[in-house]
Amino acid sequence: MSFYVIKGPNRLRGEIKVAGAKNAALKFLAATILTQGDNEIKNIPEINDIKKLIEILVDLGAKIKKEKNKFIISTDKIKKSKINDDLGRELRASIILAGPMLARFKKVTIPHPGGCLIGKRPIDIFIKGLQSFGANFTENGSSYTFKAEKLKGTTYLFPKISVTGTETMMMTAVLAEGKTILKNCAQEPEIPSLAKYLNACGAKIKGAGTSTITIEGVKKLKAGKTSIMPDRIEAGTFVVTGLLTKSEIIIKNCEPKHLENFLYYIQEAGGKLEIGKDYIKTFPSQKFYPVDIITHEYPGFPTDLQAPFTLLMTQAMGQSLIHEPIFEGRLFFTDKLNQMGANITMCDPHRVIVNGPNKLFGKKVDSPDLRAGATLILAGLIAEGKTTIGNVYQIERGYENIVEKLRNIGANIEIQS
Ligand code: EPU
Repeated sequence: MSFYVIKGPNRLRGEIKVAGAKNAALKFLAATILTQGDNEIKNIPEINDIKKLIEILVDLGAKIKKEKNKFIISTDKIKKSKINDDLGRELRASIILAGPMLARFKKVTIPHPGGCLIGKRPIDIFIKGLQSFGANFTENGSSYTFKAEKLKGTTYLFPKISVTGTETMMMTAVLAEGKTILKNCAQEPEIPSLAKYLNACGAKIKGAGTSTITIEGVKKLKAGKTSIMPDRIEAGTFVVTGLLTKSEIIIKNCEPKHLENFLYYIQEAGGKLEIGKDYIKTFPSQKFYPVDIITHEYPGFPTDLQAPFTLLMTQAMGQSLIHEPIFEGRLFFTDKLNQMGANITMCDPHRVIVNGPNKLFGKKVDSPDLRAGATLILAGLIAEGKTTIGNVYQIERGYENIVEKLRNIGANIEIQS
């Protein structure tokens, strides 16, 4: 088992490139199940979650090959309808296969999905949503089967805003008979991006990126060619990296317009930035100021950037409140920052108060989940002494070559085993 060793504090300099978005690429791979022929997809990030999903697709019978910078994917030979138990459990995003498999092959069995330890993460929305298209649902122990000879267009109101839920129902509706209206949809930028791809393959989706999506079902989709959008969460993580280390770094290949709310709060906190069309440059800031944030569905403050922002607040002059209403397990990592010298008090699982500024010191810590794990790397970069981070599989689920990327801009970080 490998771990990361960081010797801090670090000052960085240079350019860092953002990879394709994990939370778009996973859905595009699932969407290929709806299409017939060879799909060509560029800019798929090389991360553990993608490797897992590819393993699942190949196990189902999909043909996937990599040519230079693109993946060629055909799902025409899929014969199985059961997602491999072990693989499916390791990947929360495996739930995203349910809708497309049902829509194209009339049946799917999925294990209860795994993923980040960030909260309960139920799947009731998926069950009720697919049932409203006319699917029959059965539960056998820890796996679920959906069946439907014919899916019928529906009107479905999401009881709670769900990113993967919205994407699942949108993909299901594409091959359902008639018209579907989805209400109270998530509006994350990955959703209109997926809709654009599906429309280019022959789907008829309107309104993706707003709270109401309307889909006119079609008989079949042809394969498409596309490139995955930049990962806004990786870009935001690097913004905090530059600011915390008081460094001038340029974050390239990103779409700052997807980070408006986050960048607003970063600047309120004293972060000095130059924001271009496809880059963000950080400058050393003398002081950081405390800012209260509450995570919210897009276009609000992204829950996936709460952890790095909380770390930034440990360096701010005063008290800030971080409120995370979306997931109930996403603030527990703060005890690791406290072990490193931070002063963070948990009010309840959804709220912490950060008192800053506090000098951090290197420690041996384990990565509890993807975003908290990346945050521990940043903590290590500003901490005095040696930080050792274990369970880095979690970090590598979503950050492509993070060690190499940070080393290239001068970080003293290495992988040891
Ligand atoms: N929820 C339910 N029932 C459901 C589904 C969700 O109650 O059937 C609840 C969740 O428990 C949560 C809320 O709805 O409280 C919102 O969760 P959502 O369904 O939007 O989350 P997700 O689709 O499972 C995606 C990203 C997450 C990101 C969230 C929120 C993917 C693969 N994952 O998860 O990304 O945090 O949206 O933006 O797209 C990450 O990248 O680190 C990550 C966890």
